[in-house]
Amino acid sequence: MKILKNYDLKNLNTFGIPTKAKFFVEITGEGELNELFKEPLYIGHEKLFLGEGSNVLFTKDWGGIVVLNKIKGIEILEEDSENILIKSMSGVIWHDLVSFAVDHDYWGIENLALIPGTVGAAPMQNIGAYGAELKNVLTLVEAYNVNTGEKRIFSKEECIFGYRDSIFKNSLRNKYFISAITLRLSKTGKPNTSYKILKEHLEKNKIEIKNSKNISDAVSEIRRSKLPDPRVIGNAGSFFKNVFVDKDKLAELRRLYPAMPFFEEDGLSKIPSAWLIEQCGPANGTSWKGYRVGNVGVHHKQALVLVNHGDGRGQDIKDLALQIIASVKEKFGLELAPEVNLI
Ligand code: FAD
Ligand code: EPU
Repeated sequence: MKILKNYDLKNLNTFGIPTKAKFFVEITGEGELNELFKEPLYIGHEKLFLGEGSNVLFTKDWGGIVVLNKIKGIEILEEDSENILIKSMSGVIWHDLVSFAVDHDYWGIENLALIPGTVGAAPMQNIGAYGAELKNVLTLVEAYNVNTGEKRIFSKEECIFGYRDSIFKNSLRNKYFISAITLRLSKTGKPNTSYKILKEHLEKNKIEIKNSKNISDAVSEIRRSKLPDPRVIGNAGSFFKNVFVDKDKLAELRRLYPAMPFFEEDGLSKIPSAWLIEQCGPANGTSWKGYRVGNVGVHHKQALVLVNHGDGRGQDIKDLALQIIASVKEKFGLELAPEVNLI
């Protein structure tokens, strides 16, 4: 374990923002982590734990220490004929865990295929896609208090999961390093094709679901066609969360905007923020979708995704995000909330 100085994080965040960490260290095991907790340079500085950097926007240099998580390992804890309990260390790449599951035909995370990032960041925002969320299969989170080094087990209930939300994104933000998670997957699962686009894709391509890999392959294909690849153009997926309203608010909005799409989820109506953003723009009669200012902009195929075309700065993306939030508020009276972690 070597603590480096003035480390450039450009290749460690999917927006590709050049930003400097005053100190930087990579950890590959819990032993190293415990050593790090005793390092004066660590103790004396503000800490930021980083996985793949696929959900962060750096708006300035980091004056403290960045800890890059490379703690690997997947272990089967117990199983019976129906279920299997799997522990994954937090530095495992999320999609590698999905591949491990679907290669054994375990069910539960196949709809979450190809979400970038590490296992350890997954509970942070309760990752979700194509009709599934991490909270549906997670049983517990192991984490270290970043100041005392004390280990704590969080039950699923203690994580207070919500839509793109958890206790780690709120009151415990930057206070705990997630070192491992345990998932309960099923050996006899059924395909979850509740998400409209997934269902349509399967029908259109006449895909018969025989195993969980068939679902993860279909989801991967949809994702590749819809979302920009960060290796080609810098982005962090959806920059904003979708908006949820109750039925009275939806009725009021639909009276004013009959074309406004909505999806019923968990007793509320989800209004796609991408649609709201598409209806607004930098000037009357224009749309943010495909808009570019300098080196940053809004993706031409997905209005929820802000992009770095090249040499954009984090602050440029933040400024654009603030303009988008203000325009949506002015037109629809709805408040967009960023999903990405601003640093
Ligand atoms: P990072 O960006 O490194 O970190 C994110 C936050 O978590 C930071 O605040 C960081 O400090 C904290 N953190 C990281 N690791 C730990 C840890 N071990 N312990 C405690 N805190 C930690 N998300 C979805 O939910 N659904 C999607 O469909 C989806 N699609 C995406 C598509 C693209 C193209 C991209 C670029 C992103 C997408 N995302 C999606 C967002 C992103 O993939 C997830 O948020 C992912 O979990 C981030 O993982 P990471 O390791 O890159 O986290
Ligand atoms: N839409 C538009 N304009 C667009 C794109 C979409 O109007 O440019 C509308 C359409 O009505 C479409 C609807 O939005 O039917 C939903 O679009 P999509 O299925 O692409 O999903 P999304 O709501 O834009 C969410 C997640 C994604 C996740 C997908 C699939 C959030 C913030 N985003 O996107 O997660 O992959 O659903 O489940 O909930 C992420 O979190 O980074 C992310 C990419």
